[in-house]
Amino acid sequence: MEHGHDHHPSGIMRWVTTTNHKDIGSLYLWFSLCMFFFAGTLALGIRLELFQPGMQFMQPQTFNQLTTLHGLIMVFGAIMPAFVGFANWQIPLMIGAPDMALPRLNNWSFWLLPVAATLLVTSFFVPGGPIAGGWTLYPPLYMQNGISGDMTIFAVHILGMSSILGSINIIVTIMNMRAPGMTYMKMPLFVWTWFITAYLLIAVMPVLAGAVTMMLTDRHFDTHFFDASGGGDPVMFQHIFWFFGHPEVYIMILPAFGIVSSIIPTFARKPLFGYTSMVYATASIAILSMVVWAHHMYTVGMPVTAQLYFMYATMLIAVPTGVKVFNWLATMWQGAMTFETPMLFSIGFVALFTLGGFTGIVLAMVPVDVQLQDSYYVVAHFHYVLVSGSLFTLFAGAYYWLPKWTGHMYDEKLGKLHFWLSMIGFNLTFFPQHFLGLAGMPRRIPDYALQFADFNRMSSIGAFIFGTTQLIFVYVVIKCIRGGAPAGDKPWEGADTLEWTVPSPAPYHTFETPPVVK
Ligand code: CU
Repeated sequence: MEHGHDHHPSGIMRWVTTTNHKDIGSLYLWFSLCMFFFAGTLALGIRLELFQPGMQFMQPQTFNQLTTLHGLIMVFGAIMPAFVGFANWQIPLMIGAPDMALPRLNNWSFWLLPVAATLLVTSFFVPGGPIAGGWTLYPPLYMQNGISGDMTIFAVHILGMSSILGSINIIVTIMNMRAPGMTYMKMPLFVWTWFITAYLLIAVMPVLAGAVTMMLTDRHFDTHFFDASGGGDPVMFQHIFWFFGHPEVYIMILPAFGIVSSIIPTFARKPLFGYTSMVYATASIAILSMVVWAHHMYTVGMPVTAQLYFMYATMLIAVPTGVKVFNWLATMWQGAMTFETPMLFSIGFVALFTLGGFTGIVLAMVPVDVQLQDSYYVVAHFHYVLVSGSLFTLFAGAYYWLPKWTGHMYDEKLGKLHFWLSMIGFNLTFFPQHFLGLAGMPRRIPDYALQFADFNRMSSIGAFIFGTTQLIFVYVVIKCIRGGAPAGDKPWEGADTLEWTVPSPAPYHTFETPPVVK
């Protein structure tokens, strides 16, 4: 979408100065792909060390640094920016807007990210190395980190700023720039889920910023917010962190729900079942997500009444989530289904995310969690939610919209290969970790007792299958950008109209023609 500017910078300056939502969407997506491979490589380092008992390749400190940066960068560098990239590409198209409402702010939201990523990545080269002690940054351990601790605090502030500015942009765009006739309850569900996610981000990112700011003053300005010896309380940090951290989990999954709700109707050739209930379920999940945070800290010594409250509140989230899963299944029910790559990743998501949801209910139960906390069961649980939840839907969405974005069809054979190898690699990596956790293997430890050897070997082999498989995705994307069969106006065999979840007509200038390849 060209505006009335006379001057168009070219080369690198085009990308630095761009205010075009498609350009910025692409920047977000490429950035997140790079971060995905960086953080994924760190994960392979972890699995390499855990391939067999004993210390193989690294010091315990290094191992802890790998787990910390793997988590931080996957969450803030890979998953979140990828969804913002989808928001940039799809929201203006889906609501019939010429661009995002605040295009220059949009540019700045993106360019903050490489700054934060540089701070995190270069912490490998400062004295003491990157921070160790987990992406949750718990004190008092966090106080031990050297200069990288401050670099991380600064990075978190920048990432938070980027998220808040991006969210403001998304909310303003959705509220002000919908095509005539597109009422809120006619918006595609991807737009709805991002609308709700943006509010969630604005609500909780400042809380994280507050937590790390208190950490900063504790480290350098003689405050004692989290220092028990000075009258502070390290557990207070956990409360503040998880008040951000649990909604963060939903920030990484609600837009995924939106993507899947676009894809399943297309390949089932039926309108989405229960549109209205989908909207209300999404909103309910967002509200509930803000009142369950202490289920991450049952073992800190809170009153039993608090444990009971957080247990029941957490289990309540299964209700709206169940509504969503039911609606996806009902959409597929008796549909004329075909199984192209986007549909495969979506169905994979529904199956595996539901499994991750079940283990979430298991962990929500206080007496069970007291046994399983800080074990590999927790690691298995959240990877089922985040990898098969967030990551698989990102792949689903990428394959689904690549024809629209590039004007070319991607290589369907390779796409399917990517799906099936991912499915095998992912489950081989993380399913055995349930058993490891149930048997008592603790997380964030570089060595383990002999009885855990077999499942760890399986897990490490799975991780390398899963990791190398992702190179197929890069190849497919590059191949699709460079050429391939023309996608035409309706790449999914005339099923395009079903991308719209309601019978209102598609906005005139969205999917009528494939985007121009620049
Ligand atoms: Cu939680």
